[in-house]
Formats: sequence, C-alpha cells, structure tokens
Amino acid sequence: MNQKPRIITPDQFSRRSFLKRGSAALGGAALASTLAPSRFALGASGGDEIKLAIIGCGGRGSGACAQALNTTNLGPIKLVAAADVHEDRMNSALKNFESKFDERGRVSKENRFLGFDAYKKAIAQADVVILSTPPGFRPMMFEEAIKQGKHVFMEKPVATDPAGVRKVLAAAKVAKEKGLKVGVGLQRHHQKGYIETVQRLHDGAIGDITSMRAYWNGNTPWLKKRADLEKTYGRKLTEMEYQMRNWYYFTWICGDHIVEQHIHNLDVINWVKKGYPVKAQGMGGCEVRKGEDYGEIYDHHAVEFEYEDGSRLTSFCRHIVGCWNSVSEHVQGTKGRCDVSRNTISPTTGDAWRHKEQGDKDPYQQEHDDLFAAIRNNTPYNEAENGAMSTMTAILGRLATYGGKEIEMEKALKSEVTIFPKNLAWDAEMAVKPGPDGMYPRAIPGKTVVI
Ligand SMILES: NC(=O)c1ccc[n+]([C@@H]2O[C@H](COP(=O)([O-])OP(=O)(O)OC[C@H]3O[C@@H](n4cnc5c(N)ncnc54)[C@H](O)[C@@H]3O)[C@@H](O)[C@H]2O)c1
Repeated sequence: MNQKPRIITPDQFSRRSFLKRGSAALGGAALASTLAPSRFALGASGGDEIKLAIIGCGGRGSGACAQALNTTNLGPIKLVAAADVHEDRMNSALKNFESKFDERGRVSKENRFLGFDAYKKAIAQADVVILSTPPGFRPMMFEEAIKQGKHVFMEKPVATDPAGVRKVLAAAKVAKEKGLKVGVGLQRHHQKGYIETVQRLHDGAIGDITSMRAYWNGNTPWLKKRADLEKTYGRKLTEMEYQMRNWYYFTWICGDHIVEQHIHNLDVINWVKKGYPVKAQGMGGCEVRKGEDYGEIYDHHAVEFEYEDGSRLTSFCRHIVGCWNSVSEHVQGTKGRCDVSRNTISPTTGDAWRHKEQGDKDPYQQEHDDLFAAIRNNTPYNEAENGAMSTMTAILGRLATYGGKEIEMEKALKSEVTIFPKNLAWDAEMAVKPGPDGMYPRAIPGKTVVI
C-alpha cells in the first residue's frame, strides 16, 4: 500500500451507516421520548450509595457483580435487586454474594425476580444494572435499562444478529443524550499492557498497519447435555428451556463462538485500526464436534476481513481438541511488527519494546473502577457503540462463513433477517429444533440465506 491508510472511526462508521437514516428508524425516537435525568449522571453527591441490580446471575454476572461491589473506595454501593430465568442459578449466586459481601450483597425476597420479564422489575430498583445474560437477550435489556434512565455495565457480545446491533446502537445514542454511562465487557481496553501497546501503534511505532491476524483457537468451553439436565431436574425439558440451559450451542442466544469468544480478538484489531471492516468472506463448518447436544453452531471459522484502507485481517477460531491453539492478535506495519497480545513491538530498525507488568490491575476489576468513577464524577463514558460495532464485526464473520459469500458490512447492518425468537415463553414453538435424527440443522455455505 502506497497511500496513507484512511482511518475510519467508530463514530464515522456508525454515522455513515445508520445514523444518517434517522434515529426513528432505529427505535431511537421511542427511547428518546422517555428521557429522564439520571441521579448520578447529573451530578448528585459522589458520596451517595449506588443501588446495583444484576440481570443474569451466572458465572460472569457473579464476577462482574463482585467487581462492582469492590469499588467501595469510590463510594458506597449495594446490590438491591436480581433477575434470572432460572431459580437455581439465581439462588446459588445470591448465596455467594451474601456470604462474601454480607449486608451489601443481600437482596430482599421482594427484589428477587424470575422469568422472561424479570429484568424490567430489577432494572426499576437500581441506579446501575449489570446485564450478564447470554448475549441474545442483551439488546432488549439494554434498551429497557436506557429507557428507564439507568447506567449499565453489559457483557460482550451485545447482540447475536444485525437487528440486535441496531437496537444497541440506537439505545447507545440515547444513553449519550441522557448522560448515562455504559461499560462493555471488552476488558482488554482496561488492561495496561494492551493500552500502552495500542497507544504506541497509534503513535506510529511500526508505521501504517498493513496486515493483521487474530486467533481464538481452543477447546469447547462447556456442554449441558439434555439427558443430564433432565436427570438433574427430574422432568422433560421444553425445547426453549433446553436451549436456554445449553445456550452456547444455539446461534440465536450465543451468536456462535466466533461472536461469543473471538469478539475479543476482533475488537483488539478494530481498536488498533481505529475502525471496522467494510467486508468479509470466509469458510467454516462443523467437522469434529458433532452430536445431538452440540446444537447448530460450527466448530471452526476462518475469515478474511477487509478494512476501509484495503488492509486485511486473517481471523481463525476453532473449538477442536488436539489442534494448534492460540488466543492472540498480531499486526504487521510498514516499519515493523507487533504481537499485540504479548504487548511486544519489534520495529524493523531500533530496539524491540515490551510492556513490563508492574502491579497491573486485573482488567475485570479495572473496567468497573473506570465505569464507577465516571458515574460518580459524571464524566463521559460510553463503550456501547464500540461494543455494538465489534459485536457486528464478529457477526459479519459468521454471516460470511454460514453463507459462504462475500458480505459488505453496510449491507449486513441493514439486514432484516432476524434469528431471535418472536415469543419468549417456556412452551414457545422454536424456529430452531432437532430433526428426526435428533440433530440440529446447521447453515450450509452457498445455500443458506444469511442476510
Ligand atoms: N468478558 C469476558 O471475558 C467474559 C467471560 C465470560 C463470559 N462473558 C459473557 O458473559 C455473558 C454470560 O456468560 P456466563 O458465562 O456468565 O453464562 P452463564 O450461563 O453462567 O450465566 C448466564 C445467566 O443468565 C441467566 N439468564 C439466561 N437468560 C436470561 C434471561 N432472559 N433473563 C434473565 N436471566 C437470564 C441464566 O439463567 C444464567 O444465570 C455472556 O455474554 C458471555 O459471553 C464474558
């Protein structure tokens, strides 16, 4: 590449792609009509106790809640409400909070909400909400939290399809207008080694970034088999309950592992490039991880993303045991190369540089420290737009591997193909269901219509 790369920022991309179409089309008008001032955002005393609610009391939600409750050096904070769809998951998380944080982690019986609408009630009790359900539910929950005027920490990914991404982008805009603070669980942005490395790259340490690589090659995170679940609960599970309990393997709720995990690596490359890919093509499938309980997702994806300046990102993610594993990001520049994940820069001339860890804070804690400092000091803080666009980057990759075609970001973002169920109920008729052999159909590249 001879010409200076043109850089496209998150703001520019979203303005060009959707905001010019008007916020009403994105649902923003409905949200904006309920603008209500937020207590902390509008400068109430930083000494006030923050009321916290958790929606989705699982593994990461428990971690995020503890990290939020650990921000007492910034001011008092108490968990006041919880919501989940599964009573067993909520009870075990609440028991832990209570034993770890005593009164500050105790949620009264009246403020424990169960069911598909429980999130609305929990949000109503709080100043700040943690959204940590599986990602398919994030857009509707984020929209509701912003509508109710609450600050948010939400886990990545923030959606599983383009319609969900649009909803998050619209709500992110309203959050900014209302002065609400939003953190997204892409914690590498709060990790000292990454921050310093990316800053150096932005300062030109290796010139223009001309090619990139990102990997999440590892093993299957977990599996909940239908037979085991039915044995545990002593009853037959409806299809909805089975898919919710074994959520990793269903695209409408998880996004596939390219979205659920690999988003972290794709997001780092977007950060380095200060923008988002304009198109992608790729291939993938399910080669090894087969069986009735492995749902509809693939076990590998290989995608080539192209950025506005013509530079390309090669991305691999794989869940197959016994293969080469790596969770990392690397970039090549006109004047050197960088292993971003190892915080190491090797210029073509001069000495290599490596970030030295000296008491670096756990990024999961740091992201909460940063969010709560912004809430208490009423300083601008909105990670939702980048969270939505990095989620969309990963979704674009999945659309490319499922469909087998080259797909443009702008077209994908406008797609009306939605995979989220129309009816959320335990006995709902599911669009995704097993065939007569018990196996779930998977996308067939070249045949499946994805946008
Ligand atoms: N940032 C990170 O490094 C990181 C690490 C792990 C997980 N995560 C993300 O955190 C999210 C949760 O993952 P997890 O591992 O904690 O999953 P999990 O299954 O342990 O927890 C999910 C919880 O949400 C509940 N839930 C499901 N649907 C719900 C609904 N509609 N309303 C209310 N509650 C609902 C479940 O019952 C469960 O308690 C995912 O988006 C995941 O990608 C992020």
